[in-house]
Amino acid sequence: MKKRILSGAQPTGELHLGNYLGALKNWVALQNEYESFYCIVDLHAITLPQDPQVLKQKTLDLARIYLAAGIDPDVSTVFVQSDVAEHAELAWVMSCVARMGELERMTQFKDKAKDGTERAGVGLFTYPVLMAADILLYQTHLVPVGQDQKQHLELTRDLAERFNRDYGETFVIPDPYIPPVGAKIQSLSDPEKKMSKSDENLNGAIFLNDSADVILKKFKRAVTDSSTDGIVFDEERKGLFNLLTIYQSVTDQSRDEIESHFAGKGYGHLKTELAEAVIEYLKPFQAKMAELNDEELEKILQKGAEKARSVASETLRKTYERVGLHKK
Ligand code: AMP
Ligand code: TRP
Repeated sequence: MKKRILSGAQPTGELHLGNYLGALKNWVALQNEYESFYCIVDLHAITLPQDPQVLKQKTLDLARIYLAAGIDPDVSTVFVQSDVAEHAELAWVMSCVARMGELERMTQFKDKAKDGTERAGVGLFTYPVLMAADILLYQTHLVPVGQDQKQHLELTRDLAERFNRDYGETFVIPDPYIPPVGAKIQSLSDPEKKMSKSDENLNGAIFLNDSADVILKKFKRAVTDSSTDGIVFDEERKGLFNLLTIYQSVTDQSRDEIESHFAGKGYGHLKTELAEAVIEYLKPFQAKMAELNDEELEKILQKGAEKARSVASETLRKTYERVGLHKK
């Protein structure tokens, strides 16, 4: 039997190159090797205020993005989190396993609670518990995510281990898969910060549907430095390092190859070549985005939800049984 993958992204904002290289690219690469479940986590999306109509549309759009990126619905299970009630049900049980102190240590909560933790929603606080439920429901072995999700994965493992110890062996303990290249793409305008959906500076992120002109313009404006040490991978030179990392991820070349390719060249040259490489890289994705209609997507999501339910319901039944809950 193949080992399982589960991962997901929130249907909010615009997906950017960081999401693509940190997550989606790896989901596609791993889908044949594992039995894969790729979820659109709309229950996570409502941990911050969302416009209901927009959320609905974004959910379908994200399904389109998954498929256009190369996730094959005949190979992988693509589904929406709220279609599978077991996610919310297991999240409740896991919230009785998790401790306040461990959730208080989650750095994302503080980052996202912009108006202060006192005014933040309780759902934003328990967000990582729902994420643990997403993963544990599918007896997942591997969770491909970007670097920013590592702490949530550690919590998931802790909760699963605690549950298994207290109630008997129930959950597979999942491992994170954080790609060696591209797990942390930084903002083009501020290389100290990660590329993000919520960046106020629109030049900081390359969005997946950006036109060739816009991509070129954004890379041309990308922040670098005034060093004369040439184009080399140096983590201290954050802006340059980020551009080279993007180049490495989209071309799949080695660091040595890239450094010798750019030897003696300037930043202007690097930026133009990088923009061209990214434009080419996104072309097949962008073409496919235009082809997938809503009706087809709805069918795929319905089939996906049925498949997901068949696995999730079995884990939930076992969990309820272990805990002594009555549900038949
Ligand atoms: P989100 O859009 O926040 O639901 O994130 C979806 C996936 O993209 C997660 O696996 C994140 O870890 C990943 N991700 C988000 N931002 C970045 C980034 N700047 N670099 C690499 N991966 C990212
Ligand atoms: N928290 C993840 C993010 O913001 C999204 C997510 C929710 C997820 N549930 C998950 C990722 C389960 C992997 C597995 O990117």
